[in-house]
Amino acid sequence: MLVGRGEHCRHLLGGSRKHDREWLPRRRASRAIALIGGQSIRIGDDVIIRERATARCENGIFGCHIPTLPSQAPCRLCQHSAVTRYEPERLPIDEGLARGRRFLSHMDARRSVRMFSDAPVPAEAIEIAVATANTAPSGAHQQPWTFVATEDPETKHRIRLAAEAEERENYEGGRLPDAWRQAIAPLGTSADKSYLETVPWIVVAFAQKSTLMLDGSLRKNYYVNESVGIACGLFITALHTMGLATLTHTPNPMGFLMDIFERPQTERPYILFPVGYPADDCEVPDLIRKPLASALIRFPT
Ligand SMILES: Cc1cc2nc3c(=O)[nH]c(=O)nc-3n(C[C@H](O)[C@H](O)[C@H](O)COP(=O)(O)O)c2cc1C
Repeated sequence: MLVGRGEHCRHLLGGSRKHDREWLPRRRASRAIALIGGQSIRIGDDVIIRERATARCENGIFGCHIPTLPSQAPCRLCQHSAVTRYEPERLPIDEGLARGRRFLSHMDARRSVRMFSDAPVPAEAIEIAVATANTAPSGAHQQPWTFVATEDPETKHRIRLAAEAEERENYEGGRLPDAWRQAIAPLGTSADKSYLETVPWIVVAFAQKSTLMLDGSLRKNYYVNESVGIACGLFITALHTMGLATLTHTPNPMGFLMDIFERPQTERPYILFPVGYPADDCEVPDLIRKPLASALIRFPT
């Protein structure tokens, strides 16, 4: 087997090639590519060495295993096996519950932030967060997301200007329906999105309605909203775990992000995430989360 057990095999290239190239190996195998964290792997006559923790197999031929295919045959090019043993750590329940309580407490401390510091954040933090998002379950394992990250001041400036123009229409131009205006009033938000230039990074999640396959055909994706939403949740969780903050930002409409990031028509902007550290004087709305009894119903009661 050429790609190791438990490693991730994909044969799809989504989104623009320009962005994907950043994640692809320095040396491109003739037909198959795999990225394995810190290892060298052999594909045909090519040996590829990657330091990234992402594994990827790309061959453009649809004989590779994928959940939607009935065949259990291994990938024709990389011989990645169709099945692999799943042996997660088996925890005594006491230890599991203790971990769960600690994790709940950690997540309960997460807040959406609108007052950011300009303190730098290393690119690796963004890579870790997106790699975490990339572990999300997805309909038919289609992984219909692209995350585009920028730290370029000019790009952030363009995003701020475009977002503020749209938000001025919303807040001051009467485009927001009254009910929506009332719903967000307690948050104290406005058309001022200056934090989009303060933050070291902006990451935009794009949803792939369809995915461009290597043979040039378009694959329609299923459960796109659900899949990208879960991936974004994991992205937020990873940032919070690294002590970073973000805002789930949806300046409506977000079409300008397609132009700024030169995304293909197969995608649409899903969520814009400013990413950085909270400002020293950061304040957030004093929200109370609904009690568990309102979120969880045991049936039958
Ligand atoms: C789908 C979605 C869209 C959101 N869009 C915006 C937005 O455009 N602007 C904003 O300031 N906050 C936005 N938020 C953030 C919410 O206001 C925030 O999550 C909510 O008030 C709860 O606060 P918390 O995240 O600190 O728990 C959005 C959140 C979600 C989940």
